[in-house]
Amino acid sequence: MDRDDALRDLRQEFLLPEDVIYLDGNSLGPLTKRGQEHLERAALDWRRLGVGGWQGAEVPWFHLAETIGAMLSDVVGALPGEVIATAQTTLNLHQVLQTFYRPSGDRRVVVTEALAFPSDLYAIAGHLERRGLDVRRSLRLIPSRDGHTLAADDILAALDDDVALAVLPGVLYRSGQALAIGEITAAAHARGVPVAWDLSHAVGAIPLALHRDEADFAFFCTYKYLCGGPGAIGGLFVHRRHLPVRPGMAGWFGSDKARQFDMPMELGPADDAGALQVGTPPVLSSVPLLGSLEIYREVGMEAVRRRSLRQTELLAAMADDVLREQGFQVVTPRSPEARGGHVALAHPEAARLSRALKDRGVVPDFRPPDVVRLGPHPLYTTFREIAQALTVLRDIARTGEHLRYPEGREEVG
Ligand SMILES: Cc1ncc(COP(=O)(O)O)c(C=O)c1O
Repeated sequence: MDRDDALRDLRQEFLLPEDVIYLDGNSLGPLTKRGQEHLERAALDWRRLGVGGWQGAEVPWFHLAETIGAMLSDVVGALPGEVIATAQTTLNLHQVLQTFYRPSGDRRVVVTEALAFPSDLYAIAGHLERRGLDVRRSLRLIPSRDGHTLAADDILAALDDDVALAVLPGVLYRSGQALAIGEITAAAHARGVPVAWDLSHAVGAIPLALHRDEADFAFFCTYKYLCGGPGAIGGLFVHRRHLPVRPGMAGWFGSDKARQFDMPMELGPADDAGALQVGTPPVLSSVPLLGSLEIYREVGMEAVRRRSLRQTELLAAMADDVLREQGFQVVTPRSPEARGGHVALAHPEAARLSRALKDRGVVPDFRPPDVVRLGPHPLYTTFREIAQALTVLRDIARTGEHLRYPEGREEVG
């Protein structure tokens, strides 16, 4: 399968951790060679130019957030000015809430889902509390019937006349289920509900058409598939029909760039998504994206998705074949359109199995209570690695090697 594979050679663009099969790019993508060059160039510019780097660096730092925002637009299917690179995922959700959550009359509820990434829940609950709202009444969770996925009917049933905003995942972080962004957005709009999409597990894994799908807002990290680096700058999308806007959380980097250094005493915001920036962008945690997004631009999301689907299909099929007897269950949906970029395997011993896998040179991750996530990356994972990883996992489960590990789990990541 690897031999007649058009994207196979791209692996050499990535500086992968040595001597392991790295299946955790859906948590932290590796450094790219081009990203490293940009990092080194930024360090050199800092050394040579000092403060002059804001205007004089090869890619001037003053416009870096907009430059990267434009590159991200290609990946998420946005128009110019609809995406800005800024802050981090959770902070960008706060910005969306501060700016666009506009309760009025009986419409006060924020809808999200029972399997949401906890940080999103913390942000929403915290925001509602600060507004003096009763969280039990103003936060509604879409239930999950199987503990892994969401049913379209349940999503739609939650979006009634009480709802002021929905916050939904493009791809669920644990099971890897992909939601139909266009269809759900259209149904939400028919009920008068704007939707903010958490695309952390979708961006760089599945093709997105946020402008065409009329998504209202989206926020996402860039350190997973997009290989921006640990803690890299986040991404924020605002559909053009919601622009221009006065930011709920304001700061000088949200200014119209032409006037920012006039230092006016009142904010004159940019007329695009850039208005939602707050402070100075983290240059060194942004420049690796100049390299990795260039690779994405060259390959295109359709080709990325084609290879990703072949990978997850192989993974799920092999898991059925060699792991079912060992008590594993694939909990990622089977249909291609409902599948993101990773495959989730449920097993009661998932925590210890993950640790045993790592010690055998396969890097997965564990998500409580019982999921091992295997995240191949379409631009560097080989089909042979997928097969090897599953064979190792089968051997561990068969021999009970994982039972030597103490119960519980170790690390962050
Ligand atoms: C789906 C999802 N949402 C939100 C976050 C929080 O991201 P951050 O730490 O960048 O705020 C993550 C982090 O992995 C995530 O996977």
